[in-house]
Amino acid sequence: MRLRHFVDTQDFSKQELLDLIELIRIMKEADRQGATPRLLQDASLAMIFEEPSTRTRVSFEVGMTELGGHALYLKPGEIHLGERESLSDTAKVLSRMVDVIMARTLKHETIVGLAEAATVPVINGLTDYNHPTQVVCDVLTMMEHAPQGKGLEELNVTFVGDATNVLSSLMHICTQMGMNFTHAAPQKYQPPAEWRAIAEENCRASGGTLTITADVVAAVREADFIYTDLWWWVGQEDEIPERRAAFMPTYQVSMDLLSKAPAHCKAMHCLPASRGVEATDEVLDSPQSIIFGQAENRLHTEKGLLVW
Ligand code: CP
Repeated sequence: MRLRHFVDTQDFSKQELLDLIELIRIMKEADRQGATPRLLQDASLAMIFEEPSTRTRVSFEVGMTELGGHALYLKPGEIHLGERESLSDTAKVLSRMVDVIMARTLKHETIVGLAEAATVPVINGLTDYNHPTQVVCDVLTMMEHAPQGKGLEELNVTFVGDATNVLSSLMHICTQMGMNFTHAAPQKYQPPAEWRAIAEENCRASGGTLTITADVVAAVREADFIYTDLWWWVGQEDEIPERRAAFMPTYQVSMDLLSKAPAHCKAMHCLPASRGVEATDEVLDSPQSIIFGQAENRLHTEKGLLVW
């Protein structure tokens, strides 16, 4: 079998991603029936985290346990990664001892370097560029909550807020799937040209559409899903006043903004959320919110991905 890493959804065809999502759906159904197959009996997963995590860490560790395997939590200061040992040597040593490596790295180059040197599959658990496991989970969640009779390629997905790593991945997978993807943000916080170029190329192949606009009301008018993410992350603390002023109140996902979308529209967030900042409590806890089902789907996604 050819070694495949999971660093970017762009490395996979639409059909491969759909096949993966179908496997995840089967794993979820098996979980519901208390019949998760122990397909990774005695296998080991090394989990490297350069940044904190709740969902990614717990979903990979629990997923590995439920499949009969074992996960090791490795963080900077406790392993030699990139300091007393080169990235390449760490990847080669881990490859001799474990069956899979999952890493959340500050820089995208780090996960790419790990994948280049490793001889076991490397899974990207978030970098400063993208978050591929999150968005595979998100497409599954959208399939589960799509309006009756509406196919995947007819879905309208609107992301409101900063051009984060999640926006990058979501824009790319949605356009690859042939969906209609809209990003609403002030011009300064819209995605760079290279990210757009990938999405535009995806649209040419899939028939999907990409709209990037500052007009948030127009952006949500036909939305089946409104998705938001944090307005600032670790290391951007100095920018908080400027960012808050740019986004608030126009780009906050509030009940008022949600009311501008169709009544069936669902609210999504990859979490963690800054409640009362990018989205209000009323939205996050409303019947239209699917954020906790979305979070649970991370567990099924990691299990499907590990088995795949
Ligand atoms: N959505 C997500 O990746 O959550 P964590 O940062 O908690 O892993």
